[in-house]
Amino acid sequence: MRAGITGTGHYVPEKVLTNFDLEKMVDTTDEWIRTRTGIEERRIAEDDMDTSEMAYRAAVNAMEDAGITAKDLDMIMVATVTPDTPFPSVACMLQDRLGANKVAAMDLSAACSGFMYGMVTAKQFIDTGVYKNILIVGVEKLSKITDWTDRNTSVLFGDGAGAAVIGEVSDDRGILSFELGADGSGGKYLYQDKDYLSMNGREVFKFAVRQMPESSVNVVEKAGYQREDVDYLIPHQANIRIMEAAREKLGIPEEKMATSVKKYGNTSAASIPIALSEGVKNGKIKEDDLVVLVGFGGGLTWGAVAFKYGR
Ligand SMILES: CC(C)(COP(=O)(O)OP(=O)(O)OC[C@H]1O[C@@H](n2cnc3c(N)ncnc32)[C@H](O)[C@@H]1OP(=O)(O)O)[C@@H](O)C(=O)NCCC(=O)NCCS
Repeated sequence: MRAGITGTGHYVPEKVLTNFDLEKMVDTTDEWIRTRTGIEERRIAEDDMDTSEMAYRAAVNAMEDAGITAKDLDMIMVATVTPDTPFPSVACMLQDRLGANKVAAMDLSAACSGFMYGMVTAKQFIDTGVYKNILIVGVEKLSKITDWTDRNTSVLFGDGAGAAVIGEVSDDRGILSFELGADGSGGKYLYQDKDYLSMNGREVFKFAVRQMPESSVNVVEKAGYQREDVDYLIPHQANIRIMEAAREKLGIPEEKMATSVKKYGNTSAASIPIALSEGVKNGKIKEDDLVVLVGFGGGLTWGAVAFKYGR
């Protein structure tokens, strides 16, 4: 047996904020946003829908897909930088809301790489046989830490949640390799300053176009495959130009890469699990496909996982 994904799910708020809406809010244009980032629109949660509510909806969806109930869970992890409150954690709120047993529950802070950190942590508990089913949710309500008067950041982000259940799968499938890393000296490039998110876009861009391609190749090689063997690539959905750098390094065609950044913008820790859940539901990810997930974010942090999909 090997640790792998046994279910996926996601939730995005209904309210759509388009680039044209943003033209009326800050000094920007649809053309600038599309050509620099690939983003066309993003989802914004209503005031009464906080992070834990989006997490709950994605979690229910993932558990249904895995064919388990809350009573089957052994641990809950939530990756987020926008919890309802600093504590109790979103994971504890979720445990209560789901009616899970009194299992371990914690939030995990690795910004946009959070889901990668969560998946790799979950893998350790499954591999050692300690736990059977771990729920991991990547969720953000970035709209509450966005300065809606700042054109440098307000055009980039959105709200949403993605979730996965990590459990035992057959040993020819599941998580084959991973890489996690951090460089705290780059913390100054992306951080929350009092109420709002603050960013040096150019520095983050330079870091990301170097790190995402490198980590993608590393996990494919560690898994014992060739770059072109990758069936589907899910890079952190931050900016299409950064994502393209990873795709080109692997040498795979456009249709083998998730591009939900167009409709959701950058949803930080939620971006990879949302794209993963959509990829499974729309049939882009099939049984036995070699899938690479790769993320980067504030910290600075990064992480990648290569797995064979299926149970
Ligand atoms: C932010 C980002 C899209 C900017 O793209 P870019 O190609 O670096 O942009 P440039 O440096 O060529 O242009 C910046 C100029 O556009 C302007 N600009 C910034 N945001 C703008 C907007 N929304 N609309 C119009 N102009 C904008 C800037 O003020 C600057 O103007 P100046 O040259 O007169 O000072 C890009 O740097 C990026 O994606 N960085 C990574 C961000 C990221 O992924 N963050 C999340 C990490 S998890």
